[in-house]
Amino acid sequence: AATAAFGARRVLLASPRSFCAGVERAIEVVERLLEKNGPPVYVRKQIVHNTHVVRQLEQRGAVFVEDVEDVPEGVTVVFSAHGVSPAVREAATARGLDVVDATCPLVTKVHAEARRFAQRGDTVVFIGHAGHEETEGTLGEAPDRMVLVQDAADVATLEVADPRRVSYLTQTTLAVDEAEAVVDALRAKFPALRGPRSEDICYATTNRQDALRAVVEESDVVLVVGSDNSSNSRRLAELARRGGTPAHLVDDAAQIAWTWLAGASTVGLTAGASAPSALVEEVVAALSGLGPVEVEERRVTSEDIRFAPPRKVVAP
Ligand code: F3S
Repeated sequence: AATAAFGARRVLLASPRSFCAGVERAIEVVERLLEKNGPPVYVRKQIVHNTHVVRQLEQRGAVFVEDVEDVPEGVTVVFSAHGVSPAVREAATARGLDVVDATCPLVTKVHAEARRFAQRGDTVVFIGHAGHEETEGTLGEAPDRMVLVQDAADVATLEVADPRRVSYLTQTTLAVDEAEAVVDALRAKFPALRGPRSEDICYATTNRQDALRAVVEESDVVLVVGSDNSSNSRRLAELARRGGTPAHLVDDAAQIAWTWLAGASTVGLTAGASAPSALVEEVVAALSGLGPVEVEERRVTSEDIRFAPPRKVVAP
């Protein structure tokens, strides 16, 4: 019994975890501009939703602003990975700003679908979270034809101009199973419902959820490294909790309350798509400080997707 009590704690590392291709590209855009133009480099909104990434880039001379109006006229501005509405693009042009677009190509794809569906006369139902930058940007593609629904309850009260002409799109970072439930509710209400050609929830979101699902049942507690405003990170913590496992979203090891780990012999560990992998290593190191730790990685798939940076930051 004594050996059991002092036995090693197991850490199950969900894989894939941490940075996706869209986040890597967005950070690369800011880094390249810092090298090429020197500071300051203005970025509209947080380049990706992670406090550590933002702080580190700030230290190197990036300046994050809420609005293009906060950027001095005529300089370069970077649009964040989450995308912007056409109205924001127009405001940037009106201000004479040189735009470098770090929008993830998988978000840009959803914008293009929104325009296409709206142009064919559909009401476009966007399944997403109110107030998130990606939601605001995508809805801005066709504000008069698009409506936001957050859950099946919203579908119940939804009214559209022509029930035969309804299509849907989704935010890229939703919980796959929750989004499916909302699409089912939409299809029950609008049998002629049309959707995107391929899934809008991105590969990185899907893979991180699948990976966590593969460790959650064995885990006594789950730690998700990610920031509070990171949509895909929040979905990971929720996924664990829906399965009945306590889960905590932490920016870094310093935010872990050690009481969470009392009696937890197996800790599931993952990180959202905007969270640097070094922070996960720090969490493992912190756990090792409490006693012996056996780390086991559980990989459900490999990712080799990369997105080329925009030409503007590559060309001399
Ligand atoms: Fe793009 Fe998905 Fe990452 S939409 S930014 S690849 S989480």
